[in-house]
Amino acid sequence: MNAIVANPDERLWAPDPDRKTSRDVREMFARVSARYDLLNRIISLGLDDRWRRRAADLAELSGSERVLDVATGTGDLALAFGSRLPRGRVVAIDFCAPMLGLARAKMARPNGPASTERLSLAAADALHLPFRDAAFDVVTAGFGVRNFEDLAAGLREMHRVLRPRGRIVILESSNPETPARRLLTGVYMRLVPALGRALSRSGTDAYRYLAESMKRFPDRAAFERLLVSSGFESPRSVPLTMGIVTVTVARKPG
Ligand SMILES: C[S@@+](CC[C@H](N)C(=O)[O-])C[C@H]1O[C@@H](n2cnc3c(N)ncnc32)[C@H](O)[C@@H]1O
Repeated sequence: MNAIVANPDERLWAPDPDRKTSRDVREMFARVSARYDLLNRIISLGLDDRWRRRAADLAELSGSERVLDVATGTGDLALAFGSRLPRGRVVAIDFCAPMLGLARAKMARPNGPASTERLSLAAADALHLPFRDAAFDVVTAGFGVRNFEDLAAGLREMHRVLRPRGRIVILESSNPETPARRLLTGVYMRLVPALGRALSRSGTDAYRYLAESMKRFPDRAAFERLLVSSGFESPRSVPLTMGIVTVTVARKPG
């Protein structure tokens, strides 16, 4: 396993022996899939869709882009992008069939979002994307990259399928930068596994994992450095809601 994490002591990237494998991650999301949207709404205090809309805004779309949403889960970020693309397209991929099934059902609802004709879904692994080089104008992921078994390999794949001067837009949970805010989030993140347990019997370990994976994910500056070492330029991070989530936008050099 080649997974990497920030090593706070040495300021290096090092293999993380505790990281979950892709298979563990896929099975875990399969177990929580039925309750995923509900738990997300509760845990984010109803803010998760606002964060996805903000990520789509920060992509500064002209309306005709080809967008790839990686690790789409139940499809909400793909829908946020789709609603801003009157002449464009969104392709959304995930490797967890039950999550994709929910995305498909959501998009096919009779009164579902009008953007669905411009949206397609596919089962695929983010670490081996089945697309040609430079196929997309924008590549995005919401709460997805943190789960990659190999974060650097996932970013390299996103870079490969992006056209020169295309943009990557990553929405991820993050640790707030002031001590008071960090304390508040710390307390809240201890509550998350309990919430998961109360709402979904099968979700207990998944929500413990969520809290742990947040702590393990590189901080803003380290993630920006990783984007640069993966071939992107001009990374810009925009913290939302006191910094509990961050949208990071970077460009592929042209
Ligand atoms: C926390 S959910 C995020 C879903 C959605 N993007 C959202 O905004 O709520 C993480 C998703 O990443 C997917 N995932 C994790 N690793 C993946 C990989 N290597 N390839 C494809 N999907 C992956 C999981 O199956 C899961 O559906």
